[in-house]
Amino acid sequence: MTDSSEESVELEARLEEQGSFDPPESFVEQANVADPGIYEEFEENWPECWEGAADLLSWDREYETVLEDDDAPFYKWFTGGELNASANCLDRHVENGAKNRAAIKWEGELGETRTYTYGDLLNEVEAFAAALRDLGVGEDDVVTLYLPMIPELPVAMLACARIGAPHSVVFAGFSADALATRMNAADSEYLVTCDGYYRRGDALNHKEKADKGVRGVDHDVTSVVVDRLGDELKHFLGDSAHDYGELVEQHEGASVDPVSRDAEDMLFLMYTSGTTGQPKGVKHTTGGYLAYAAWTSHAVLDVKPEDTYWCAADIGWITGHSYIVYGPLALGTTTMMYEGTPDYPDRDRLWELVEKNDVDIFYTAPTAIRAFMKWGSQYPEKHDLSSLRLLGTVGEPINPRAWKWYYTHIGGDECPIVDTWWQTETGGMMITTLPGIGTMKPGSAGPPLPGIDARIVDAAGENVEAGDAGYLTVQKPWPGMLRTLYQNDERFLSEYWQEYSDEETDEWVYFPEDGAKIDDDGYITILGRVDDVINVSGHRLGTMEIESAIVGTEGVAEAAVVGGDHDLKGEAVYAYVILEDGQDPTDAMSDRIVEEVEDAIGPIARPEEVIFTPELPKTRSGKIMRRLLEDIASGNELGNTSTLRNPEVVDEIAAQVESD
Ligand code: PRX
Repeated sequence: MTDSSEESVELEARLEEQGSFDPPESFVEQANVADPGIYEEFEENWPECWEGAADLLSWDREYETVLEDDDAPFYKWFTGGELNASANCLDRHVENGAKNRAAIKWEGELGETRTYTYGDLLNEVEAFAAALRDLGVGEDDVVTLYLPMIPELPVAMLACARIGAPHSVVFAGFSADALATRMNAADSEYLVTCDGYYRRGDALNHKEKADKGVRGVDHDVTSVVVDRLGDELKHFLGDSAHDYGELVEQHEGASVDPVSRDAEDMLFLMYTSGTTGQPKGVKHTTGGYLAYAAWTSHAVLDVKPEDTYWCAADIGWITGHSYIVYGPLALGTTTMMYEGTPDYPDRDRLWELVEKNDVDIFYTAPTAIRAFMKWGSQYPEKHDLSSLRLLGTVGEPINPRAWKWYYTHIGGDECPIVDTWWQTETGGMMITTLPGIGTMKPGSAGPPLPGIDARIVDAAGENVEAGDAGYLTVQKPWPGMLRTLYQNDERFLSEYWQEYSDEETDEWVYFPEDGAKIDDDGYITILGRVDDVINVSGHRLGTMEIESAIVGTEGVAEAAVVGGDHDLKGEAVYAYVILEDGQDPTDAMSDRIVEEVEDAIGPIARPEEVIFTPELPKTRSGKIMRRLLEDIASGNELGNTSTLRNPEVVDEIAAQVESD
């Protein structure tokens, strides 16, 4: 069946008929969590309810207090406790008889495969941890990992965790400038990168970008380079660079005791986009984060050690940290990794992988599901997907039609879907149904997880009526929460805690900057960001970051960037640009602007359209009317423009967008 209008009419009709879905009995019977009493239990027993999450881990030293809130909102979890994340993800499974179980099953884009058992993974992690130490990496030194989806990335993460060095993973698709910005911000003196990787069959040079990035770092950098491409792409190591393979070989058989870390010690930093041009260094800790990643993997993703589990995200984003690496490995399951794109060599690549590996659980983003739907169901139909038991989505709202397509064509009408709302900052899932308990309603993420106090409020902080739109807030802390922004407590307070908290009464409310509505039954539907952050294909980008790249182009005077609706990407970048006097709005200028954005951030931030305009619509007080620009980009009807200083410019711009 293709994505014909006949099909959509039929689907819409079925959806009308069936607005909610219950998990099949066969799933409920085997679910890790199936007792609806868990919600009440967590509420009555909060915050001690989170001891169950901590119990999923092995502690070197038992914690004394579950939650310390004396210095809110700088909350502390599991204080007094000590543990090591790599020992939790590796050693204890090896000791418990899982040495020969596959930990990572990796497939390269060209079809080569590698399987690391828990024993293999531990060996390589120890060898690389010893090598990092030899290079001078000490406890608390931030190590930047700029690697694509190859097994050396999780190895490096766990090696850092083993010696107590926080990692900062920079998405491989980010540009050299973005790498330099992040290394400078984190004072990171160590970099692990690679020569290149495959994209749609081509060998892509990654080292060139990494080298350029390092030249932009304002201190010395010691690098390690993974030789991914061999003869396919020759590379030369400079004076301060080392070959990963050689280092691992030299340290083969090394035994590196995992460093006992305080529960509140930093496990990693992850830079994410915010309202200003400067990315935010989100700090996650060893105890709370790991317990939360493990607990949500257990309760929401229903992960069991004997499963083959696949989260088709990139480890360069938080989803990959929590649900490719830390959550699944803490639970001792087999986690899959795929290097390439879903349509190479053909559009059934992912389904071929599901069939070949008997994947039990599959977790992806709505942008991918929309692409699968557009390509048509003939691709999944070529494969036996009956091994699947549970499906998940994350990163952006999923429209009911895409939800239903996923449910039927991938899940065979038999797999529950968890639509999980969360953020880089939350560390793990926050709002979703529990698959063994909850009725699913396509398009709505579901109720907050047990123990999570999410509420929808109006501008004054009062709960909104069911059905009304408002702002999403989280009114109690949770173990996976960010602790601060790296070396910037002030920004942490102003970004997340200012809007709805009351310092006088010591009531702290976390504001994730999302709009949402809540139904009578407590189900939450996420409406999207309410700040200047846009979500392109599930990737979070700051409009300010893109704007500052554009105004860096010679000849550009001013720019406003907004997100406009896009069928596949969810949102796409629209750039409205004013040129300096005497500059012509040519295609060449447009190309230069796009190039500048790619250089500053990466191809994911590339504007869908560059719209040259003599003026931007502004209010009488001089503020750019972004909503209007968003409506123009999305082709929406334009509202009242009479309050503008320059209303005539709106029709001009709209006409230009239409003619492009
Ligand atoms: O707007 C929400 C959207 O993604 C934002 C967080 O982006 P990031 O920190 O990059 O993390 C993405 C992966 C966890 C949120 O503020 N978002 C995330 N999940 C959903 C979502 N929007 C709707 N539904 C979701 N399930």
